[in-house]
Amino acid sequence: MSSAEGLPCASSQTHLVRHFAEQPVELHTDRWSQLWDTDNSDLWDRGKPSPALVDLIEERRDLVSLVGPDGRKKKALVPGCGKGYDVVMLALHGYDVYGLEISSTGVSVARRYAENELANPQAYNWGASRVDCQPGQVEFIQGDFFKRDWEKPGLKFDLIYDYTFLCALHPTMRPQWAARMAELLIPGGQLVCLEFPLYKDPSLPGPPWGLKGVHWNLLAEGGDGIVHPEQNDKEPRPPNAKFTRTLYVKPARSYESGRGTDMLSLYTRTDTQ
Ligand SMILES: C[S@@+](CC[C@H](N)C(=O)[O-])C[C@H]1O[C@@H](n2cnc3c(N)ncnc32)[C@H](O)[C@@H]1O
Repeated sequence: MSSAEGLPCASSQTHLVRHFAEQPVELHTDRWSQLWDTDNSDLWDRGKPSPALVDLIEERRDLVSLVGPDGRKKKALVPGCGKGYDVVMLALHGYDVYGLEISSTGVSVARRYAENELANPQAYNWGASRVDCQPGQVEFIQGDFFKRDWEKPGLKFDLIYDYTFLCALHPTMRPQWAARMAELLIPGGQLVCLEFPLYKDPSLPGPPWGLKGVHWNLLAEGGDGIVHPEQNDKEPRPPNAKFTRTLYVKPARSYESGRGTDMLSLYTRTDTQ
């Protein structure tokens, strides 16, 4: 969605929009795999872990603890993990981390990256409040987030991180995205979203699909994630939300591609089922 750390490049976005235009939604996973197989991951790859996520886990340990209450390692999931930068960074902060990718090529690339990076981690994995700890395990899984065949019995997550996964999905998939997030987290588990792109008109085609107001609508209001600005302040939405937003900040550091508009949100799963 942008080339490396640069500003979102209009031609990258046009390329992605064209690649998915008029494709049935059930073929979108194949279309993502094609992009990997034709070496086009630079259309969205940022080249390093998310600085906003690094800062959150290092600086807001009052909200996001690195270990569970019983001292056990916490389990994290990064769906649509791409090359695995955030997977490795979370593991270097002590989490056992699972990276899920639909593309088998993407999984191979991520495994290679993780092997090198864990052996010789770069400074970009830490922020100003560096925490040194025993790294957790890393596992990359090839699978479809919306299917259950990749899940392991009893495996639920303390933390899930979404960056450019929701915006990669067709808007009709949004309610299923929210339902799967609730299903995969333990009660009290945390969903961290680096919300992007917030500058893009939600009525324009994606990916990336504009997400202004979408996370709130899906997670806090239990809506369908299709946000109509004129409806925002009117009827209350049905009380079927499974999440409570516990943090919503403009991160001090994020990718340049967010044009200074990225927001970091933390949603806690507050239903008990
Ligand atoms: C825009 S890319 C973002 C990748 C990564 N989060 C990053 O920041 O580099 C979206 C990723 O989601 C993957 N993906 C798309 N649909 C998926 C699905 N249903 N299940 C798992 N991964 C999926 C794509 O293959 C692609 O790597």
